[in-house]
Amino acid sequence: MNSQLDPIETASRDEIAALQLERLRQTLTHAYDNVPHTREKFDNLGVRPEDLKSLDDLAKFPFTSKEDLRRTYPFGMFAVPMDDVVRIHASSGTTGRPTVVGYTQKDIDTWAGLMARSIRATGGTRSDIIHVTHGYGLFTGGLGVHYGAERLGCAVVPISGGQTERQVQLIQDFKPTMIVGTPSYVLTLADEFERQGLNPADCSLKRGIFGAEPWGESMRRELEARFGIQAMDLYGLSELMGPGVGVECIESRDGPTLWEDHFYPEIIDPITGRVLPDGEPGELVFTSLTKEALPIIRYRTRDLTRLLPPSARSFRRMGKITGRSDDMLIIRGVNVFPSQIEELILKVERLTPHYVLEVTRRGHMDDLAVRVEVKPDVASEADKQAAAKELQHHIKSYIGINTRIEIVPWGIIERSVGKAKRVIDLREQA
Ligand code: DLL
Repeated sequence: MNSQLDPIETASRDEIAALQLERLRQTLTHAYDNVPHTREKFDNLGVRPEDLKSLDDLAKFPFTSKEDLRRTYPFGMFAVPMDDVVRIHASSGTTGRPTVVGYTQKDIDTWAGLMARSIRATGGTRSDIIHVTHGYGLFTGGLGVHYGAERLGCAVVPISGGQTERQVQLIQDFKPTMIVGTPSYVLTLADEFERQGLNPADCSLKRGIFGAEPWGESMRRELEARFGIQAMDLYGLSELMGPGVGVECIESRDGPTLWEDHFYPEIIDPITGRVLPDGEPGELVFTSLTKEALPIIRYRTRDLTRLLPPSARSFRRMGKITGRSDDMLIIRGVNVFPSQIEELILKVERLTPHYVLEVTRRGHMDDLAVRVEVKPDVASEADKQAAAKELQHHIKSYIGINTRIEIVPWGIIERSVGKAKRVIDLREQA
């Protein structure tokens, strides 16, 4: 095994468990002492940080969800004074308010270290030139990968998303050896190479790291064949840190190895909340072990997968994500909740809350159509077009994605008995 690994990456399971227990105690105490919302939840359940005597005792503690972050919006879950916060990111909340996360300088250092470890696990070294197509901004993808790549000593090209024609040019000129992005966007880049009469397999890229949206083995094969690269899976979420919670190691390429020295994983039954044994499918839950600004206890990711035994490292792995236990959609890497769209529909005077979201894939890009009914008294074509334009604009400015709006007459969308079926997802999850 690579001698440059951190010692903990090859430690015994006992050593890892001892470190996790110590860090869990610190995290529970830090959150209990400094986050009133968390303390109240512990008190309501009658648990205190000192009740954690073994790792299994974690099951006694309350879960955290997006709802907790929403209720305490924007900074109520922060466990340090704002003077100690050096960075803020945000991701989609289930409704209008985004989920806000914060970092101390030490948190940023830890993140850079874990992202550097992740890139190294995929075969990256300081000799690599790394082309980063994740968005830079409130999304954690761009900056998260960027700091890690710099930490490892790579030469980073912070191109971000978009400007696809130019990206092809820069790949031709700068000759990067690695590319990082959402699998769907990087396949769109392959299309652009071909449109320009170039074969993507002839370019300099050797390895790619993909994440932020679900992707399967057929997409891996396509990425590998078209670019002539090895493709590896990078997992993460903002509430825990961002990219770099786990990554596939180049030696085994058998699902992301989770950096268990910083995040403690559990799999639960999404309905009962009961902890399930390793290997069983369920919802992934994480507790942060070293975070200062936003310690997070038993965060329900809503990602459905399972925990797998260690392979290339001493840490456990996760399987492919097979779905979600909520209704969040990932459209071109952007997290979208139907409830957010519903709120925006309600802002448009002429529209009704009768709508359906239809997701398809055009080429490699996701396409979201919002089919929505107008009020019975809206008859003129001009009024319908104006309503469509207004909704499209709201969705673009609040959520950040382009959509197709289909205005339909009143009464067309099937009324539900019970829970409305709002989403038709026709994308293949191969
Ligand atoms: O997507 C962080 C990230 C950026 C990961 C870049 C990897 C690369 P959020 O915007 O908070 O953070 O979205 C987190 O995206 O709960 C999953 O549902 C999904 N997701 C992230 N990585 C993967 C992956 C970033 N490798 C949510 N495979 C998560 C499948 C993924 N889904």
